[in-house]
Amino acid sequence: MAPPVTLDTINPKVLKCEYAVRGEIVTLAQRIQQELQSNPGSHSFDEILYCNIGNPQSLGQQPITFFREVLALCDHPAILDRSETQDLFSADAVERARQILDQIPGRATGAYSHSQGIKGLRDTIAAGIQARDGFPADPNDIFLTDGASPAVHMMMQLLIRSEEDGIFCPIPQYPLYSASIALHGGTLVPYCLDEETGWGLEISELKKQLEAAKSKGIAVRALVIINPGNPTGQVLAEENQRDIVEFCKTEGLVLLADEVYQENVYVPEKTFHSFKKISRSMGYGEEDLCLVSFQSVSKGYYGECGKRGGYMEVTGFNADIREQIYKMASVNLCSNISGQILASLVMSPPKVGDKSYKSYCAEKEGILASLARRAKALENAINNLEGVSCNKAEGAMYLFPRIYLPQKAIQAAEDANIAPDAFYCRRLLNATGIVVVPGSGFGQVTGTWHFRCTILPQEDKIPAVISRLTDFHKGFMDEFRD
Ligand SMILES: Cc1ncc(COP(=O)(O)O)c(C=O)c1O
Repeated sequence: MAPPVTLDTINPKVLKCEYAVRGEIVTLAQRIQQELQSNPGSHSFDEILYCNIGNPQSLGQQPITFFREVLALCDHPAILDRSETQDLFSADAVERARQILDQIPGRATGAYSHSQGIKGLRDTIAAGIQARDGFPADPNDIFLTDGASPAVHMMMQLLIRSEEDGIFCPIPQYPLYSASIALHGGTLVPYCLDEETGWGLEISELKKQLEAAKSKGIAVRALVIINPGNPTGQVLAEENQRDIVEFCKTEGLVLLADEVYQENVYVPEKTFHSFKKISRSMGYGEEDLCLVSFQSVSKGYYGECGKRGGYMEVTGFNADIREQIYKMASVNLCSNISGQILASLVMSPPKVGDKSYKSYCAEKEGILASLARRAKALENAINNLEGVSCNKAEGAMYLFPRIYLPQKAIQAAEDANIAPDAFYCRRLLNATGIVVVPGSGFGQVTGTWHFRCTILPQEDKIPAVISRLTDFHKGFMDEFRD
């Protein structure tokens, strides 16, 4: 008898969905790692350097002390009144934990909460948004989620009715978007970022692609924008953001603003502005634009990926739609409480005068300054490689260099039946232990080849990454140069 479940009988949308960041190259890396453990010396390197995923703490980044103190105290309130606690924890962490516990019904982090998230924490987040933007934020607009990913899925589920519903996505894009659009059965409508202008976004490109989609009978419902960009690392100029807001308003598109890298800007000439702030500063209110902003505890200087915290701020939707979003949130009961607490902490960190303020600032600035140095060092090294060009990493956690592969290498990849950039990345991994993701996993202009490399290995490992990559690349070019 045939098994009850086969690839032919599962949901075809699951088959269609791809997620390169944890794809084939990573599986190979895990296999090599096991080989290195069971058989040391079996490769020409002694460790795998994971530059494939934005997971800072897995590569040694330390969590922010204040955040962890508050979390620990909330999870074990019995120690709040112990005398040793005064020595072990900072006074403002103790005070914050007490405040947060007072906001949690039953003071229990092990209890389900309101499906949108604990109201007191949403109040704190709304106040944090207001302080960031200079415009009011409503706690009832906040939906706390287990990281930004479930929030993105929720919006796709809400908006996509069939294949005829399209979602505008940047190319290259973070594969959560292509994957969730595929899972929910919609159509990804691409708009290409312009590599020549530092991954700029042209409104003319949006207009062109909108017309193309319409001519195929696709109703474009929403526009995804990732700022700062993943995998491309650019930070949008304010003027460009205004044009995007105007475009969405004119075309009646929901603006899905992925703002999870809002704290990761490394160049003095650029500043992060939320789309909410931009649209409000243009005089647009609730009635003008449906706007969803995604934020996460996984990125920034906090990097708490495993805690699964985040939120979406949902504005401009009618009350009846909000009710439906609330219903979807309630099907999952609630997001995890540690993630909720962390989301409130990242939006309301220690302030001037608080006991932890100085040490908090030192930790935060230390991490961000180090990320900026790593970005610059890798960018310079990659730009020194023959036939490789790399835009500035203005923000986020990635570089996305273009590799001009020799024809012989492209042919060799074709013979091996894999994409040329995957061929390059596989060779790189086998020769050096460095794991990067082929550009084809993010989408790229046809005929161009890239890879995405995170800037996250600890600073003392960067010279090794650079020298291994440089040596590998030279050997690769010597082998395949036309
Ligand atoms: C642009 C972008 N959005 C969303 C996410 C999802 O992150 P999380 O679900 O951990 O919040 C990521 C993770 O890398 C990302 O890069």
